[in-house]
Amino acid sequence: MSRYDVWKEREEKLLCRTYGRYPVSVAGAKGSRMWDADGKEFVDLLSGIAVTSLGHCNEELTEVISKQAQKLIHVSNLFYQEEQLEFAEALLATCHMDNVFFCNSGAEANEAAIKMARRYQQKVKGNDAYEIITLEHAFHGRTLAAIAATGQEKFLDGFAPTTPGFIQVAWNDMQALKAAITPKTAAILVEVIQGEGGIHALSPEYCKELQSLCREKDILFIVDEVQSGLCRTGKWWAYQHYALEPDIITSAKALANGLPLGAMLCTAKASKAFEPGSHATTFGGGALVTKVGSKVIEIMQRDKLADRAKQMGDHVRAKALALKSPWVKETRGLGLMVGIELSCSPESAKKVWDELLEAGFILNLTQGTVLRLLPALTIEEYDLDRFVECLGKILADVKE
Ligand SMILES: Cc1ncc(COP(=O)(O)O)c(C=O)c1O
Repeated sequence: MSRYDVWKEREEKLLCRTYGRYPVSVAGAKGSRMWDADGKEFVDLLSGIAVTSLGHCNEELTEVISKQAQKLIHVSNLFYQEEQLEFAEALLATCHMDNVFFCNSGAEANEAAIKMARRYQQKVKGNDAYEIITLEHAFHGRTLAAIAATGQEKFLDGFAPTTPGFIQVAWNDMQALKAAITPKTAAILVEVIQGEGGIHALSPEYCKELQSLCREKDILFIVDEVQSGLCRTGKWWAYQHYALEPDIITSAKALANGLPLGAMLCTAKASKAFEPGSHATTFGGGALVTKVGSKVIEIMQRDKLADRAKQMGDHVRAKALALKSPWVKETRGLGLMVGIELSCSPESAKKVWDELLEAGFILNLTQGTVLRLLPALTIEEYDLDRFVECLGKILADVKE
């Protein structure tokens, strides 16, 4: 029996059955390499789903973790902590936002944004507006409010009653959005580029008009940057490609390169919604994770990783197109949020994905036929080239 089989059997007895695991065990990882429990090496093109943007076990971060762990790890949000302040300053300097609330995950960051939008309307404006409009194929997380915002049947299944106050409209469709806005609308929540939804970017015209509508009607404009933020798309934040100025953005994933850290950033106007006691979390923004967060931002800035994400993303998309395979329908994305849509059936696409995994490439298959790559921003061009070469060989054998 391989160690993989032993772990699989143990896990089935121990853990709640929430995850559809890939058939891979992971014993260690470094940079963009991963090793399974039986010694096989993989090239990681997923980086923990856009989390370890600076590579696994980044040495500079390991040093920060080790030093900070000897100084201060956690004391609760009852106290003032310099690590938290330094990180807040560094993070806010990446955008036009004024204030930040720290939490532990993307879903929690979205919860904070939803609560802020409702409270802004009800307490600051004195309206009874509470509805949040979201877009089809969205993904905003797995808490009860976040699955209502996500709106997809597969995530709501068995969790009735659905949290009220969420309305979903067709993606990138201005008429549908306008028709959904009523005096009850508190906010519009979108991903400028959808990740789980298959790497689809909203049009700049739609985003601009959406922002104007929000301004006109004093509806808060929230952008979920949990997956797309922190240099991944070639800018600090994906909305910056369109020169937008949302009222709230949410972040998590890459903030502390694998330690749990989430954030909701907002303008001074939106921030009026909260007062002491309105919202809180025990772990959010503890000294250890925020110290790491500051280092993450410093490295991203110093090594110009937004530019690198753009270069590498453009490179891998161009290479995939250059395969001229009839099975590559389209390549999409911004920076290192990369989607390669196959034109074969979902069954054949799953076989392609299986063979890539067998050949040692870790990536994701989303929406049935979209190969999704979210590699570390530090990935070597050589690894991307090897992946495309292998994809080309596998696609050459696809028959339908
Ligand atoms: C756009 C987006 N929002 C929210 C989430 C939820 O984040 P978390 O899993 O940290 O709760 C995700 C996770 O994949 C995401 O991609």
